[in-house]
Amino acid sequence: MTDDRGRAISSAAPAKLNLYLHVTGRRADGYHELDSLIAFAAPFDRVSAAPAKQLSLDLAGPFAQDLAAGDGQNLVEKAARGLAEIAGIEPAARIVLDKQLPVAAGIGGGSSDAAAAIRVLLVLWRLEIDSAAIQKLAISLGADVPMCLHGRACFASGIGERLDAAPVLPDCALVLANPGISLSTPDVFRARGGAFSAPARFVDAPVDVAALANLLAERRNDLEAPAKALAPVIKDVLQALVGLPGSRLARMSGSGATCFALFENVGEAVAAADILRAQHGDWWIAPSRIIQPS
Ligand code: C5P
Repeated sequence: MTDDRGRAISSAAPAKLNLYLHVTGRRADGYHELDSLIAFAAPFDRVSAAPAKQLSLDLAGPFAQDLAAGDGQNLVEKAARGLAEIAGIEPAARIVLDKQLPVAAGIGGGSSDAAAAIRVLLVLWRLEIDSAAIQKLAISLGADVPMCLHGRACFASGIGERLDAAPVLPDCALVLANPGISLSTPDVFRARGGAFSAPARFVDAPVDVAALANLLAERRNDLEAPAKALAPVIKDVLQALVGLPGSRLARMSGSGATCFALFENVGEAVAAADILRAQHGDWWIAPSRIIQPS
Protein backbone atom coordinates (compact mmCIF):
# COMPACT_ATOMS: atom_id res chain seq x y z
CA MET A 1 0.00 0.00 0.00
CA THR A 2 2.93 2.36 0.75
CA ASP A 3 4.60 4.55 -1.81
CA ASP A 4 7.10 7.26 -1.00
CA ARG A 5 7.33 8.50 -4.59
CA GLY A 6 3.93 10.03 -4.94
CA ARG A 7 2.28 7.12 -6.71
CA ALA A 8 -1.26 6.12 -5.77
CA ILE A 9 -1.73 4.11 -2.61
CA SER A 10 -4.77 1.89 -2.43
CA SER A 11 -6.70 -0.25 0.01
CA ALA A 12 -9.45 -2.81 -0.49
CA ALA A 13 -12.81 -2.09 1.14
CA PRO A 14 -14.45 -5.52 1.50
CA ALA A 15 -18.14 -6.27 1.92
CA LYS A 16 -19.22 -6.45 5.58
CA LEU A 17 -21.63 -9.23 6.53
CA ASN A 18 -23.75 -9.57 9.63
CA LEU A 19 -23.81 -13.36 10.05
CA TYR A 20 -26.43 -12.78 12.71
CA LEU A 21 -27.82 -9.52 14.04
CA HIS A 22 -29.90 -9.24 17.21
CA VAL A 23 -31.40 -5.88 18.11
CA THR A 24 -31.05 -5.86 21.89
CA GLY A 25 -32.33 -2.40 22.83
CA ARG A 26 -32.81 1.21 21.84
CA ARG A 27 -30.90 4.17 23.22
CA ALA A 28 -32.46 7.49 24.19
CA ASP A 29 -30.91 9.09 21.07
CA GLY A 30 -32.81 6.63 18.82
CA TYR A 31 -29.83 4.44 17.89
CA HIS A 32 -30.34 0.72 18.42
CA GLU A 33 -28.12 -1.56 20.47
CA LEU A 34 -26.98 -4.67 18.70
CA ASP A 35 -25.34 -8.02 19.17
CA SER A 36 -23.89 -9.10 15.84
CA LEU A 37 -21.30 -11.46 14.41
CA ILE A 38 -19.41 -9.59 11.73
CA ALA A 39 -17.37 -11.11 8.92
CA PHE A 40 -15.82 -9.68 5.76
CA ALA A 41 -16.03 -11.05 2.26
CA ALA A 42 -14.97 -10.37 -1.30
CA PRO A 43 -15.96 -8.62 -3.53
CA PHE A 44 -14.67 -5.27 -2.45
CA ASP A 45 -14.52 -1.61 -3.40
CA ARG A 46 -11.09 -0.04 -3.73
CA VAL A 47 -9.99 3.37 -2.46
CA SER A 48 -6.82 4.89 -3.98
CA ALA A 49 -5.19 8.17 -3.04
CA ALA A 50 -2.44 10.21 -4.67
CA PRO A 51 -0.81 13.53 -3.73
CA ALA A 52 -2.68 16.63 -4.94
CA LYS A 53 -3.10 20.30 -4.09
CA GLN A 54 -6.67 19.88 -2.92
CA LEU A 55 -9.23 17.21 -2.10
CA SER A 56 -11.02 15.52 -4.99
CA LEU A 57 -13.02 12.32 -5.32
CA ASP A 58 -13.48 10.47 -8.61
CA LEU A 59 -15.87 7.56 -8.86
CA ALA A 60 -15.38 4.48 -11.02
CA GLY A 61 -16.81 0.97 -11.22
CA PRO A 62 -20.24 -0.56 -11.89
CA PHE A 63 -22.03 1.19 -9.00
CA ALA A 64 -20.40 4.63 -9.37
CA GLN A 65 -23.59 6.03 -10.92
CA ASP A 66 -25.50 5.27 -7.70
CA LEU A 67 -23.37 7.76 -5.75
CA ALA A 68 -23.48 11.54 -5.97
CA ALA A 69 -20.08 12.92 -6.99
CA GLY A 70 -18.55 16.16 -5.89
CA ASP A 71 -21.14 17.16 -3.27
CA GLY A 72 -18.70 16.57 -0.41
CA GLN A 73 -21.17 14.19 1.23
CA ASN A 74 -19.55 10.87 0.38
CA LEU A 75 -18.23 9.16 3.52
CA VAL A 76 -14.80 8.96 1.87
CA GLU A 77 -14.62 12.77 1.62
CA LYS A 78 -15.94 13.14 5.17
CA ALA A 79 -13.28 10.70 6.38
CA ALA A 80 -10.57 12.66 4.57
CA ARG A 81 -11.69 16.00 6.00
CA GLY A 82 -12.07 14.52 9.49
CA LEU A 83 -8.62 12.96 9.43
CA ALA A 84 -6.99 16.16 8.13
CA GLU A 85 -8.71 18.15 10.86
CA ILE A 86 -7.35 15.84 13.59
CA ALA A 87 -3.88 16.14 12.06
CA GLY A 88 -4.15 19.94 11.62
CA ILE A 89 -3.39 19.76 7.88
CA GLU A 90 -5.20 20.57 4.64
CA PRO A 91 -7.15 17.57 3.24
CA ALA A 92 -5.15 17.47 -0.01
CA ALA A 93 -5.43 14.22 -1.99
CA ARG A 94 -6.79 12.93 -5.28
CA ILE A 95 -8.96 10.01 -4.23
CA VAL A 96 -10.50 7.43 -6.54
CA LEU A 97 -13.27 5.16 -5.30
CA ASP A 98 -13.81 2.05 -7.42
CA LYS A 99 -17.35 1.08 -6.50
CA GLN A 100 -17.84 -2.66 -7.01
CA LEU A 101 -20.40 -3.15 -4.23
CA PRO A 102 -24.07 -2.16 -4.48
CA VAL A 103 -25.01 0.99 -2.56
CA ALA A 104 -27.36 1.10 0.47
CA ALA A 105 -27.30 -2.68 0.43
CA GLY A 106 -26.63 -3.84 4.01
CA ILE A 107 -23.04 -4.84 3.30
CA GLY A 108 -21.41 -1.72 4.68
CA GLY A 109 -20.04 -0.44 1.40
CA GLY A 110 -19.90 3.23 2.40
CA SER A 111 -18.52 2.39 5.84
CA SER A 112 -15.89 0.08 4.38
CA ASP A 113 -14.93 2.83 1.88
CA ALA A 114 -14.53 5.33 4.74
CA ALA A 115 -12.33 2.86 6.67
CA ALA A 116 -10.19 2.23 3.57
CA ALA A 117 -9.87 6.00 3.04
CA ILE A 118 -8.60 6.41 6.60
CA ARG A 119 -6.06 3.60 5.99
CA VAL A 120 -4.68 5.05 2.75
CA LEU A 121 -4.62 8.67 3.93
CA LEU A 122 -2.74 7.77 7.13
CA VAL A 123 -0.03 6.43 4.80
CA LEU A 124 -0.24 9.14 2.12
CA TRP A 125 -0.06 11.95 4.68
CA ARG A 126 2.44 10.03 6.85
CA LEU A 127 0.34 10.58 9.97
CA GLU A 128 0.81 9.07 13.37
CA ILE A 129 -2.44 9.60 15.19
CA ASP A 130 -3.37 7.77 18.37
CA SER A 131 -5.95 5.06 17.95
CA ALA A 132 -8.48 6.71 20.32
CA ALA A 133 -8.71 9.72 17.99
CA ILE A 134 -9.09 7.44 14.96
CA GLN A 135 -11.84 5.48 16.71
CA LYS A 136 -13.64 8.71 17.59
CA LEU A 137 -13.47 9.80 13.96
CA ALA A 138 -14.67 6.36 12.78
CA ILE A 139 -17.78 6.30 14.98
CA SER A 140 -18.59 9.92 14.06
CA LEU A 141 -18.73 8.78 10.40
CA GLY A 142 -21.16 5.91 11.07
CA ALA A 143 -21.92 3.03 13.41
CA ASP A 144 -20.34 0.47 11.04
CA VAL A 145 -17.09 2.36 10.34
CA PRO A 146 -15.18 1.09 13.44
CA MET A 147 -15.88 -2.56 12.54
CA CYS A 148 -14.77 -1.91 8.95
CA LEU A 149 -11.57 -0.30 10.21
CA HIS A 150 -11.05 -3.40 12.38
CA GLY A 151 -11.51 -5.46 9.20
CA ARG A 152 -11.69 -8.96 10.66
CA ALA A 153 -14.41 -11.20 12.03
CA CYS A 154 -15.64 -9.96 15.41
CA PHE A 155 -18.64 -9.64 17.69
CA ALA A 156 -20.06 -6.12 17.67
CA SER A 157 -22.15 -4.61 20.46
CA GLY A 158 -23.16 -1.12 21.56
CA ILE A 159 -24.49 0.48 18.37
CA GLY A 160 -21.88 -1.53 16.47
CA GLU A 161 -18.77 0.25 17.72
CA ARG A 162 -17.81 -2.10 20.60
CA LEU A 163 -15.78 -4.92 19.08
CA ASP A 164 -14.60 -8.18 20.59
CA ALA A 165 -12.67 -11.03 19.02
CA ALA A 166 -14.88 -13.77 17.56
CA PRO A 167 -13.96 -17.47 17.60
CA VAL A 168 -12.04 -18.51 14.49
CA LEU A 169 -14.54 -19.08 11.68
CA PRO A 170 -14.15 -22.02 9.31
CA ASP A 171 -13.22 -21.49 5.66
CA CYS A 172 -16.62 -20.70 4.27
CA ALA A 173 -17.84 -19.98 0.77
CA LEU A 174 -20.78 -17.69 0.07
CA VAL A 175 -23.12 -16.41 -2.57
CA LEU A 176 -24.20 -12.79 -2.15
CA ALA A 177 -27.36 -11.61 -3.90
CA ASN A 178 -29.03 -8.22 -4.12
CA PRO A 179 -32.26 -7.72 -6.09
CA GLY A 180 -31.23 -4.25 -7.27
CA ILE A 181 -33.05 -2.19 -4.69
CA SER A 182 -31.54 0.10 -2.09
CA LEU A 183 -32.99 0.28 1.40
CA SER A 184 -32.59 3.11 3.88
CA THR A 185 -31.10 1.88 7.18
CA PRO A 186 -33.11 4.34 9.34
CA ASP A 187 -36.35 3.27 7.57
CA VAL A 188 -35.66 -0.40 8.32
CA PHE A 189 -34.86 0.27 11.99
CA ARG A 190 -38.00 2.41 12.24
CA ALA A 191 -40.15 -0.39 10.78
CA ARG A 192 -38.89 -2.88 13.40
CA GLY A 193 -41.44 -3.75 16.07
CA GLY A 194 -41.90 -6.12 18.97
CA ALA A 195 -39.64 -7.21 21.79
CA PHE A 196 -35.87 -6.88 21.78
CA SER A 197 -33.68 -9.97 21.48
CA ALA A 198 -31.12 -11.29 23.93
CA PRO A 199 -27.44 -11.27 22.96
CA ALA A 200 -26.37 -14.68 21.63
CA ARG A 201 -22.60 -14.83 21.38
CA PHE A 202 -20.97 -18.24 21.24
CA VAL A 203 -17.59 -19.25 22.57
CA ASP A 204 -16.39 -22.36 20.76
CA ALA A 205 -15.06 -22.09 17.22
CA PRO A 206 -17.39 -23.92 14.78
CA VAL A 207 -15.34 -26.77 13.30
CA ASP A 208 -16.79 -26.56 9.80
CA VAL A 209 -19.38 -24.80 7.65
CA ALA A 210 -22.16 -27.16 8.81
CA ALA A 211 -21.38 -26.33 12.45
CA LEU A 212 -21.34 -22.59 11.66
CA ALA A 213 -24.66 -22.90 9.81
CA ASN A 214 -26.18 -24.73 12.80
CA LEU A 215 -25.05 -22.00 15.20
CA LEU A 216 -26.37 -19.27 12.92
CA ALA A 217 -29.69 -21.10 12.41
CA GLU A 218 -30.30 -20.68 16.17
CA ARG A 219 -29.86 -16.94 15.70
CA ARG A 220 -31.47 -14.39 13.38
CA ASN A 221 -31.21 -11.08 11.65
CA ASP A 222 -33.85 -9.07 13.51
CA LEU A 223 -33.96 -6.55 10.66
CA GLU A 224 -35.07 -9.19 8.16
CA ALA A 225 -38.80 -8.92 9.00
CA PRO A 226 -39.00 -5.09 8.76
CA ALA A 227 -36.84 -5.10 5.61
CA LYS A 228 -39.14 -7.71 4.00
CA ALA A 229 -42.16 -5.57 4.92
CA LEU A 230 -40.57 -2.60 3.11
CA ALA A 231 -39.21 -4.65 0.20
CA PRO A 232 -41.09 -7.96 -0.27
CA VAL A 233 -38.64 -9.02 -3.02
CA ILE A 234 -36.21 -9.92 -0.18
CA LYS A 235 -38.43 -12.98 0.48
CA ASP A 236 -37.80 -14.09 -3.12
CA VAL A 237 -34.05 -13.60 -2.71
CA LEU A 238 -33.96 -15.71 0.46
CA GLN A 239 -36.15 -18.39 -1.08
CA ALA A 240 -33.94 -18.55 -4.18
CA LEU A 241 -30.78 -18.82 -2.03
CA VAL A 242 -32.28 -21.58 0.14
CA GLY A 243 -33.14 -23.57 -2.99
CA LEU A 244 -29.61 -23.59 -4.45
CA PRO A 245 -27.75 -26.91 -4.37
CA GLY A 246 -25.32 -27.00 -1.43
CA SER A 247 -26.87 -23.97 0.30
CA ARG A 248 -26.46 -24.41 4.08
CA LEU A 249 -28.16 -21.28 5.36
CA ALA A 250 -29.61 -18.14 3.78
CA ARG A 251 -29.88 -14.81 5.57
CA MET A 252 -30.11 -11.08 4.97
CA SER A 253 -27.12 -8.90 5.96
CA GLY A 254 -27.44 -5.66 7.93
CA SER A 255 -30.55 -3.68 7.02
CA GLY A 256 -30.69 -5.34 3.57
CA ALA A 257 -31.42 -5.88 0.88
CA THR A 258 -28.31 -8.02 0.20
CA CYS A 259 -28.70 -11.63 1.33
CA PHE A 260 -26.11 -14.39 1.52
CA ALA A 261 -26.01 -18.17 1.54
CA LEU A 262 -23.27 -20.33 3.05
CA PHE A 263 -21.58 -23.14 1.08
CA GLU A 264 -18.96 -25.76 1.92
CA ASN A 265 -16.55 -24.67 -0.80
CA VAL A 266 -16.00 -22.09 -3.52
CA GLY A 267 -16.74 -24.60 -6.32
CA GLU A 268 -20.25 -25.12 -4.96
CA ALA A 269 -20.75 -21.37 -4.49
CA VAL A 270 -19.63 -20.58 -8.07
CA ALA A 271 -21.96 -23.26 -9.49
CA ALA A 272 -24.85 -22.00 -7.33
CA ALA A 273 -24.21 -18.38 -8.41
CA ASP A 274 -24.39 -19.49 -12.07
CA ILE A 275 -27.77 -21.14 -11.45
CA LEU A 276 -29.06 -18.05 -9.66
CA ARG A 277 -27.86 -15.77 -12.49
CA ALA A 278 -29.73 -17.89 -15.01
CA GLN A 279 -32.91 -17.44 -12.92
CA HIS A 280 -32.45 -13.76 -12.04
CA GLY A 281 -30.36 -11.97 -14.66
CA ASP A 282 -31.20 -8.57 -13.19
CA TRP A 283 -29.91 -9.30 -9.65
CA TRP A 284 -26.38 -8.53 -8.46
CA ILE A 285 -24.93 -11.96 -7.66
CA ALA A 286 -21.42 -12.64 -6.38
CA PRO A 287 -19.79 -15.93 -5.34
CA SER A 288 -17.47 -15.18 -2.46
CA ARG A 289 -15.77 -16.46 0.66
CA ILE A 290 -15.22 -15.20 4.18
CA ILE A 291 -11.87 -13.39 4.40
CA GLN A 292 -9.64 -15.09 6.94
CA PRO A 293 -7.08 -13.12 8.99
CA SER A 294 -3.68 -13.23 7.27
O1 C5P B 1 -24.52 5.39 11.95
P1 C5P B 1 -25.20 5.36 10.62
O2 C5P B 1 -25.17 6.72 9.96
O3 C5P B 1 -24.71 4.29 9.73
O4 C5P B 1 -26.71 5.02 10.92
C1 C5P B 1 -27.76 5.37 10.06
C2 C5P B 1 -29.07 5.32 10.79
O5 C5P B 1 -29.40 3.96 11.08
C3 C5P B 1 -29.09 6.01 12.13
O6 C5P B 1 -29.41 7.37 12.02
C4 C5P B 1 -30.18 5.25 12.86
O7 C5P B 1 -31.46 5.69 12.45
C5 C5P B 1 -30.02 3.84 12.34
N1 C5P B 1 -29.19 3.01 13.22
C6 C5P B 1 -29.69 2.58 14.44
N2 C5P B 1 -28.92 1.80 15.25
C7 C5P B 1 -27.68 1.42 14.88
C8 C5P B 1 -27.14 1.83 13.64
C9 C5P B 1 -27.93 2.64 12.82
O8 C5P B 1 -30.83 2.90 14.79
N3 C5P B 1 -26.96 0.65 15.70
